[in-house]
Amino acid sequence: MALILGLESSCDETAAALVTSDRRIIAHTLAGQEAAHRPYGGVVPEIAARAHVEVMAPLVEAALAEAGITLADVDAIAATAGPGLIGGVMVGLVTGKALALASGKPLVAVNHLEGHALSPRLTDPDLAFPYLLLLVSGGHCQLLLVEGVGAYRRLATTIDDAAGEAFDKTAKLLGLGFPGGPAVEKAAALGDARAVPLPRPLLGSAEPHFSFAGLKSAVARVVGQYSAQDVAASFQQAVVDCLIDRTRRALASVDATALVVAGGVAANASVRGALQALATEHGLRFVAPPLWLCTDNAAMIAWAGAERFAAGLTDPLDFPARPRWPLDPDAEKVRGAGVKA
Ligand code: KG4
Ligand code: ZN
Repeated sequence: MALILGLESSCDETAAALVTSDRRIIAHTLAGQEAAHRPYGGVVPEIAARAHVEVMAPLVEAALAEAGITLADVDAIAATAGPGLIGGVMVGLVTGKALALASGKPLVAVNHLEGHALSPRLTDPDLAFPYLLLLVSGGHCQLLLVEGVGAYRRLATTIDDAAGEAFDKTAKLLGLGFPGGPAVEKAAALGDARAVPLPRPLLGSAEPHFSFAGLKSAVARVVGQYSAQDVAASFQQAVVDCLIDRTRRALASVDATALVVAGGVAANASVRGALQALATEHGLRFVAPPLWLCTDNAAMIAWAGAERFAAGLTDPLDFPARPRWPLDPDAEKVRGAGVKA
């Protein structure tokens, strides 16, 4: 059994967690920055980096105190090394390096996307490789065949905006505030999903990818003509239709043990419900992490660290922070794609 300390700071959440290789979450701490970014309607990188600096060390101390242990009891230190906002990534990575150096414990540099990709295995011991993963977050929208730790085959990605980005922009257009995803979901619950005609970009397309920019522009054109609730509901349904269509296409080309969803947008009940139905239709198990593990957190980084540590994968202390870091280095480049995960 190994005990891993995980650190996360790639976007607007600072977090530290202690997780064991036998799937026990010993402690997890998290500080969001929503209030700091709300006046700007989005994440401001410089404000985010400064906030990470202020709370990272106290959060590590709080996690160790919650567990009643010291750094000497930890087997390895895992820190997000990218992709993400470079200032924030550096705060967590440098903290991880300093703790590793001071304690003599190995460093595991974790790809934030790998944290999301492996997080379903933290809470589901039966989830075996290979599984088809829909990774939907604020910066990414990808379909990946997860073949093993460190082995990811990207089947599709967005050619413009990520799904979470579309939720956030729709929320902004509707004046629903920040962060947008939960606000749109709440408004959508009170609206009619058939009220507003909206496009479903690339639906039925022979190419595997996603696109949400046209949907976002269409939302901008109808704002004011319908109630915010009806726009939110119709928008959410359009996103769900696109996600399901693309995932169904990918399912036809792979042999997977399960259909899995991860990332912030996986917290959306309509997205989860539609994916569950799709999995049932294919006779597959559907696996989704609990809501708090879908949005950014350090338990998923500690868990990815545990999986890598068990595979003998540790990293040198000069490992660089990587603002861009694709999970599948062999995947063809597609235009668009954000930097956060
Ligand atoms: O993975 P995540 O916490 O952060 C990164 O992007 O790395 O994902 C955040 C994204 C945001 O775009 C947010 O609006 C979206 O996930 N999100 C949701 C929901 N909760 C969070 N989107 C739709 N419905 C939700 N309930
Ligand atoms: Zn993320």
